[in-house]
Amino acid sequence: MSDKSSSNAMWGGRFAAGPDAIMEAINASIGFDRRMAKQDIDGSRAHAAMLAAQGIITDSDADAIREGLLTVLSEIESDTFPWRVELEDIHMNVEARLKEIVGEPAGRLHTGRSRNDQVAVDFRLWVRDQCDAADGALKALIEALIGQAEEGADWVMPGFTHLQVAQPVTWGHHMMAYVEMFARDRARFADARKRMNESPLGAAALAGTSFPLDRQMTADALGFDRPMANSLDAVAARDFALEFLGAASICAMHLSRLAEELVIWSSAQFRFVAMSDRWSTGSSIMPQKRNPDAAELLRAKIGRIFGANVALMTIMKGLPLTYSKDMQEDKEQTFDAADSLMLGLAAMTGMVADMKGRPDDLRVAAAMGFSTATDLADWLVRELGLPFRDAHHVTGTLVAKAEEKGCDLPELTLADMQAVHGGISEAIFDVLGVDNSVRSRTSYGGTAPDNVRSQISRWKEALS
Ligand code: ARG
Repeated sequence: MSDKSSSNAMWGGRFAAGPDAIMEAINASIGFDRRMAKQDIDGSRAHAAMLAAQGIITDSDADAIREGLLTVLSEIESDTFPWRVELEDIHMNVEARLKEIVGEPAGRLHTGRSRNDQVAVDFRLWVRDQCDAADGALKALIEALIGQAEEGADWVMPGFTHLQVAQPVTWGHHMMAYVEMFARDRARFADARKRMNESPLGAAALAGTSFPLDRQMTADALGFDRPMANSLDAVAARDFALEFLGAASICAMHLSRLAEELVIWSSAQFRFVAMSDRWSTGSSIMPQKRNPDAAELLRAKIGRIFGANVALMTIMKGLPLTYSKDMQEDKEQTFDAADSLMLGLAAMTGMVADMKGRPDDLRVAAAMGFSTATDLADWLVRELGLPFRDAHHVTGTLVAKAEEKGCDLPELTLADMQAVHGGISEAIFDVLGVDNSVRSRTSYGGTAPDNVRSQISRWKEALS
């Protein structure tokens, strides 16, 4: 049993005894919500200034509160703050300490406010910061990808569908595909940020308050666009965190696809890329090994991020309006997801910036698996006027013939070709090489090196 130093002491008369120790353990969130200390103090300072501006508290009380809160913040930042689990959460830890520092005025801070709008503000501010951090980290990753694309705008490599060789593409084009994906991720975070940027502060417990608050003033002070229009919604909503987790999940899914490609590409069987030593580890028994651990961990981190998304959806589903204590479980996993995402983005940026593509191996691989068969079929359509379906059939027969002879398409003789279709001429050999193949893919969005270069300049301009 705790005594009157517990949070029950904070609400005075109603409680004769402190909570059971297990109750304290399940109830306390201070172990994790202390991460929102800065946001909590920012919110309280804005609230105090507004209370004074509205004549609800005196200027001198507001000054004492605002100064005292800065002292609290510096104690937290210098790791000298006396955290007390019996005070449950960040809000009460800060307020109790403020009382010790400034005395009586501290008790006026909570006028026209509840922990329900307070936690909603803190968490919104925290998640908003994460949207900004994700944006910055994604920009750095995009720049690293563009760097790779510039280096190998015309390196030919196999393009895959079903992880079977499909058609030759360029390294630059492949890198720029990820630029598109990560740019959409940026847009998703920006979009979520825009929608979440409304202030719940002043909704109080749930119904609003009879004090003449200026909610626009606190919204402005905290960088919100406007106060939320409905007090019930303000304390009950957590969709802002879900949008962040949704954007984070999609972004992590993209990261894990790229991570998977790096794992495959760095294998001895592929040899498409050399990962830098900085991002590889050795084996304790096999001296030859260089394992792409960072890419593998990144591929796996998505599990935590998806998990947080599913967990918060599950926590929120079926909750009646407005606040329920269930919602305290919104934070820990969101924090973990944000940490995992930021770590993953930083690791991927490092890996991409440091990796070395292997143009010679890429080129050899690009020619395997009859990768220019489509070019052959297109030639038959273009030069001989065959319907595409017939051209497909003729080409299939030629592929079978090459397979039977154990050679690639360009190694078939003209006689081999003409035996399948008499109209084929020497000119067909021009389209069977991988360089010609990629150079010919000039349709908008296609893999031709010239297209890649113009996409690179478009993106560089957009980013500057
Ligand atoms: N620690 C709480 C949370 O994270 C703060 C809000 C508590 N409000 C309440 N009415 N019990 O959700």
